[in-house]
Amino acid sequence: MTQRWAWAEIDLRALARNVEAIVADTTTHSVWAVVKADAYGHGAVECARVAIDSGAIGLCVALVDEGVTLRRAGIAAPILVMSEQPPEQHRQLVGNGLIATVYNAESITSLGAVAEEMNIVCAVHLKVDTGMHRVGVAPSEVVQRAQQVHQHPWLSLEGVYSHLATADDATRNDATEKQVRAFAGVLNDLKDHGIDVAHRHLENSAGALRHVAEVLRLESRVGIAMYGIPGDARSDSFGSPVAVALEPVMSLKAKVSHVQVLAAGQAVSYGLRRPLTSRSTIATVPIGYADGVRRALWERGEVVIGGKRRPFAGMVTMDQVMVDCGNDVVRIGDEVVLLGSQGSERVAANEWANLLGTIGYEVTCGISARVPRIYLR
Ligand SMILES: Cc1ncc(COP(=O)(O)O)c(C=O)c1O
Repeated sequence: MTQRWAWAEIDLRALARNVEAIVADTTTHSVWAVVKADAYGHGAVECARVAIDSGAIGLCVALVDEGVTLRRAGIAAPILVMSEQPPEQHRQLVGNGLIATVYNAESITSLGAVAEEMNIVCAVHLKVDTGMHRVGVAPSEVVQRAQQVHQHPWLSLEGVYSHLATADDATRNDATEKQVRAFAGVLNDLKDHGIDVAHRHLENSAGALRHVAEVLRLESRVGIAMYGIPGDARSDSFGSPVAVALEPVMSLKAKVSHVQVLAAGQAVSYGLRRPLTSRSTIATVPIGYADGVRRALWERGEVVIGGKRRPFAGMVTMDQVMVDCGNDVVRIGDEVVLLGSQGSERVAANEWANLLGTIGYEVTCGISARVPRIYLR
């Protein structure tokens, strides 16, 4: 148990239930668990283990270093690095048995040379740009690029994939459908050229739960849904036609560290911005913007203490926040819930996202490394 009076609780039981539900709901039951960015702030090693034990077929990361961290923790599952990496990192990628993503001819050449030099066959997934226009090879060049990989004796073409740009927005189904059609075309082109690829994946959480590419019977790459956060911050559901009940995995908690009763007219924290309208109990909580509680939350954000929602009394500071508890009695050591549930009250990551004009992903990724993660098993 941490000794700091602020921590993130990561409910690995909820994560396991979420992964099992998602795996059961997807067309092929084959799900890659996206654990990049320290599992969206939840802790990559712990979450990766649970995801694999709960039925995921592999893991996805953004960086070679993230894959190496998983390998060093003894995780043997397939790990896909989801974009091309600097040539300087190819040795680490190949040496740690990570799966490379490729789309540029130069990257394939450089990766192949490293694999040959190291005497290790490197597994490769080819990323196709079907419309998001971030990274990937154009559909018209897929066959040529796939042949380049296929013909390299030290590279093994094991996957082809793409990424959806608007799957979480039901008003943009046209764009999603266009991407699905483009990906179907790519799969046909490969087949026509006799190139057989074992792993084919397109859908992210929203795409998988909405079954947008069901007819293609693909694997999927699921991140945010595993962590129990609807990807579209405006909605509280996953837009899934099938009822998949997903639970938030992260809670952010703290304990009251100081209590004072202030008179009407007094104000709290930097800028003394909002004088109290009546005598009030002010609880200080030792967590601040350096922990990921963004300053902009002070005006409309709420925390839960004693089973009640309570507003911030003043500006969020780097290491502490002050909470207006009105007439209630609050004691040093009382539990404070910043994200998660207490009694019948719940603050969701997407509540912060809406207040901050962002998405739940950024909220949990933003809970900084100095907040200890406590794993509930
Ligand atoms: C290439 C790629 N695939 C899959 C995912 C997972 O997306 P989500 O968390 O929406 O499921 C991401 C996340 O950003 C991604 O970049």
